[in-house]
Formats: sequence, structure tokens, C-alpha cells
Amino acid sequence: MAVINNGRALANVVASQIALHAEYGGVVPELATREHLRNFPPVANAALKQAGIEAPDIEVACSTAGPGLPQALMMGSRAAQGFAFALNRPYLAIHHHEAHLYSPWISGEPPEAQWDEFEPNVSLIVSGGHTLLVHVKGICDHEVLGGTLDDAAGECFDKTAKLMGLPYPGGPVLDKLAEEGDPEAHAFPRPLLKNPGYEFSFSGLKTSVRYFLRDNPKVLEEDSGLKDLCASIRAAILEVLVAKTIRAAKKLGVNCVTSSGGVSCNAGLRRALTERCEKFGFELRIAQPSLCTDNAAMVGILAERKWEQARQPDSLDCAIRPGWQL
Ligand code: KG4
Ligand code: ZN
Repeated sequence: MAVINNGRALANVVASQIALHAEYGGVVPELATREHLRNFPPVANAALKQAGIEAPDIEVACSTAGPGLPQALMMGSRAAQGFAFALNRPYLAIHHHEAHLYSPWISGEPPEAQWDEFEPNVSLIVSGGHTLLVHVKGICDHEVLGGTLDDAAGECFDKTAKLMGLPYPGGPVLDKLAEEGDPEAHAFPRPLLKNPGYEFSFSGLKTSVRYFLRDNPKVLEEDSGLKDLCASIRAAILEVLVAKTIRAAKKLGVNCVTSSGGVSCNAGLRRALTERCEKFGFELRIAQPSLCTDNAAMVGILAERKWEQARQPDSLDCAIRPGWQL
């Protein structure tokens, strides 16, 4: 939960569930629901305390209504709607990915929006659930160029890491090991790289890693074998992500490229995007690591902006939208 005032997060409290789900190797929806219920009161109180305000000081309540895990969306949205109802305040339902689109324009500590620096851009949203390339023409004006046809990039990192026996979430662990490996050790497919569109597909890459491990199980016995494998998988995923992002930026004639979502924490991705953007003269803005992953500050900062622009509240009983398309 975050408290926002004039584009600035007065509080941004995160209750992470990673340690809990790690035991099961992935998110367990029932556990997530229980934890959200358990965490909400202390998180809400901590956010109000950190911001130095009382509940009635809140002018507008908001939540992300989707896309995402239904149980989590339900908990957050009903809490925000209940808050709005009790205090007789407006409520705004915010699109999860729309909030990600603007997180590269939030920086500093505490996080603060830099709307005046905003530029039309091509934005790569890469997380455990989604891989999206978006043309952001203006603030709250965007067009989706393409998404994944199957697994998301983060899912591919996590699942291939799991095949190698790495702990959950595998993405950051694989990334760290890849730093010391040879990206050219193994040639994994670059799905849809030559395809002119902006679609992605990562399930075939995952399958080829599975077959590779079936045929070469000894590769995991050596530390260097594991690192080379990680580096080769990462290189395959990143080459497609970066090539399509740069191709879109060139074609659409924007000056700026942005990236957000959990996978934007990836050291290799940050480096590759930096190199390619420098080469082709694009300004690059990647969300700061704490704002790459899901957070309330980005949702609140966008909600405040939307409220200032249109003053259009959403219904207090509007349903969550787990499959909401951007
Ligand atoms: O945006 P996020 O916090 O949650 C959603 O999926 O909505 O992203 C989490 C994803 C996980 O798949 C995680 O493995 C991946 O982001 N991730 C990374 C890295 N850090 C987080 N993947 C690759 N390299 C990383 N350094
Ligand atoms: Zn997200």
C-alpha cells in the first residue's frame, strides 16, 4: 500500500510473500489469499503511519483491478472500495500494466513521478505473468504492439531455472549465475526473432532446455557447466526481447525506450538495453529495481494523475478484471 501526494509517495509499504511460496516452487493462490487477508491491516496501518496521516485525510482510494491473480485483486480492490465507501470518497480501478508503463518515470527516495520529463516511448513490460511491447504516445495514451503467445519471459526464466534445480524464484538466481557463464556455450532457439511482428513466444525455448538437460545431464555437475547453461538461456531470451524493442522504437520513430516489470531487474537485460539504446541514439529509462516489481506506488501515482485529468470515479462495486487487456 502506498500513500501519494502530488506525484510523491509519502509511503510505499510492501509485504513480500516470496519466502512463503518458495517452499512450493511457485505461487500458491490459496496461500496468497490468506496472506493478503492477514497482511492488509498491518500494511495499511504502517502506510498511514509512515505517511504521517490519518485515514480521513485520504481524498481518493484506488487499487489495481487487473490483470493478475483473482484472489489478490479481489482482496486489494475490496479493501480500497471499502475504504472509499466508509469515508465517502471516490474510487479508481487502475490497470496493472498501465501503472507499469509509467514506473520508469518514477525515481528518487521516496519515489516521485517526473511527469514533466515524460516522452513518447516504446515500453517493454516483462514480468512473471506478462511480456508486452507498448507504444506509449502520451500520458494515458498507448497502443499495444504485441505480447507473448504463450509463456511470459519471467516464466521462462523461472521454469528453466526450476529444470536446473535452482530455487524459486529462479529468474534472479539464473541471472546471477549467468554473469559468470559463457552466453555462446549453447545455441538455444531465438523464438520469433526473424518474425516481423512484435509477438513473443518462450514455451519452445523452455522445451529445448528440457531436452538439452535430458540429453546432457552431466552439464549440471560442474559449476562452470551450470553457469554456461544459465548464460546461454539468458542470452536467448534477451536477444529476442531487446531486438524487438529496438525494432519497434526505430519503426515508430520515438526517441525513448523504457522498461519495467520484474524481469527488468535482470542485469543482462539492463546492460543489453543500455548498449543498444546508446548505439541507436535512444534515451533509455528503466524503472529503478524496487519499482520494477509490483508495487503500490506506481498504481497510486497513476491514479492521482488520472483523477487530476478527468475526475471520473469508478463504481464502488465494479468487479475485478483478472484478464483485463491493456
Ligand atoms: O513484476 P513481477 O514482480 O511480478 C509479476 O510477475 O507480475 O515479476 C516477477 C518475475 C519473476 O518471474 C522473477 O523471476 C522475475 O520477475 N525476475 C527476474 C529477475 N528478477 C525478477 N528475472 C530475471 N532476472 C532477474 N534479475
Ligand atoms: Zn506487474
